[in-house]
Amino acid sequence: MSESIQLRVNGKTISVPSGTIVAAAVAMTGETRFRKSVFGQPRGPLCGMGICMECRVTINGQLHCRSCQTLCEEGMEVRADE
Ligand code: FES
Repeated sequence: MSESIQLRVNGKTISVPSGTIVAAAVAMTGETRFRKSVFGQPRGPLCGMGICMECRVTINGQLHCRSCQTLCEEGMEVRADE
């Protein structure tokens, strides 16, 4: 039986099973724009294996975290679209 974890994504509190990656948690909120390119274009996960860097989000104030490579943690604060 998996444990449930609560975290906040763009100010919205959600609950996910333990072992969920941040990219999945962000997608669960309906957000498709994980970050902006330098020209303001929307970007989101592409490779899902830590190579493309398109899934970067801000986690607990730390910029440019790869959401596809980070497990959700209790109380985590995630900001996408920055
Ligand atoms: S989706 Fe490519 S690095 Fe995360």
